[in-house]
Amino acid sequence: MEKITKEDILEALSKVVEPDLKKDIVSLELVSDLVFDDTQISFKVAVQNAAMHSRNRMQEACEFALERKFGKSVKISCEIIGMKKSETNQTKMKGIKNIIAVASGKGGVGKSTITANLAIGLAQKGYKVGLVDADIYGPSQPLMFDVQHEKPLGKNINGKQHIVPIESYGVKLLSIGFFADVNQAVIWRGPMATKALAQMVFDADWGELDYLVLDLPPGTGDIHLSLVQSMPITGAVIVSTPQNIALADARKGINMFQLDTINVPVLGIVENMAWFSPEELPNNKYFIFGNEGAKNLAAQLDVPLLGQIPLVQSIRESGDAGRPAILQETSPTAIAFKEMTDNIIEQINWRNESLDPTKIVPVEYGAPKCST
Ligand SMILES: Nc1ncnc2c1ncn2[C@@H]1O[C@H](COP(=O)(O)OP(=O)(O)OP(=O)(O)O)[C@@H](O)[C@H]1O
Ligand SMILES: [Mg+2]
Repeated sequence: MEKITKEDILEALSKVVEPDLKKDIVSLELVSDLVFDDTQISFKVAVQNAAMHSRNRMQEACEFALERKFGKSVKISCEIIGMKKSETNQTKMKGIKNIIAVASGKGGVGKSTITANLAIGLAQKGYKVGLVDADIYGPSQPLMFDVQHEKPLGKNINGKQHIVPIESYGVKLLSIGFFADVNQAVIWRGPMATKALAQMVFDADWGELDYLVLDLPPGTGDIHLSLVQSMPITGAVIVSTPQNIALADARKGINMFQLDTINVPVLGIVENMAWFSPEELPNNKYFIFGNEGAKNLAAQLDVPLLGQIPLVQSIRESGDAGRPAILQETSPTAIAFKEMTDNIIEQINWRNESLDPTKIVPVEYGAPKCST
């Protein structure tokens, strides 16, 4: 009889697909506790749907795959277990290589503008990019991507509905704005909002993504905590203006990500509205919100400054017109957004090389509170 190796077992089991997640159980890392010799193989497989019929089906599929490979004389003992909720989320994110959360603390500092330009900047470089507008109280991405009248379709995959994101400028986009009336303020209670967000992130047909960018609502409240705890965020980008009040809130935002129970690396700070430049005099700089406040904060907190974006009328106009400024290829603002994109890619690469992947925190409630 041929010697049984771990590689051969995993090769055989890689033919078995998790029915809800539609990927093989080996690349999803669902196989555990593998013990074997030349006469027997025992292991566990985690499944998303732990109902009896679904467990039985998985067991039969694993036994069939191994029998085909090693014959009927090898004794197979395979235990099928249910995944914990946090594991389910972690596994669902498997096709998504990096999740970037864009946050601030203070409202109106330009998170959504930065997120839209960053997502398009990444797509322009050939990456596969998704964007979730997680600002359920004031979704603005559908307008910025000029798709505010689109309605995402549902797609039935193995009996489960998945939302299909809307594509614009090479970015796959989902926003609560697609599901609520544009003129109607979306006022939801926290748990409802968190559930809607979780659906957009976990139950959407994203396919493979290099980057999923999250546009967070302003603040550091409960919704932020449950959101950042429910998915493995690779890193956070903090947006601030140079103004003192915005900087104080940016600091709170940074503190939230650095809590022991969250532990999401802060990739750095983007200084938005760093100075005002009139369109006709792009070299003139007026420091109306203060000079280099975010740059100094980055130095104080020992995090990188990822970019300085001027306050320019065309950034606001292009956002409102559904054609973000980075699309105006050679303009000074497009160049500033492209430099910011390059710096963020560099920080993510550095982070992935030097730190362990972020873990989902397996608690849903009772999270530590941050001051808002
Ligand atoms: N650098 C800039 N130059 C000119 N206008 C800008 C700039 N950045 C943002 N804006 C404008 O400022 C307003 C607020 O920006 P944005 O919506 O991106 O902020 P936000 O932080 O996402 O706000 P909220 O906290 O409400 O989600 C928008 O009208 C936007 O077009
Ligand atoms: Mg916003």
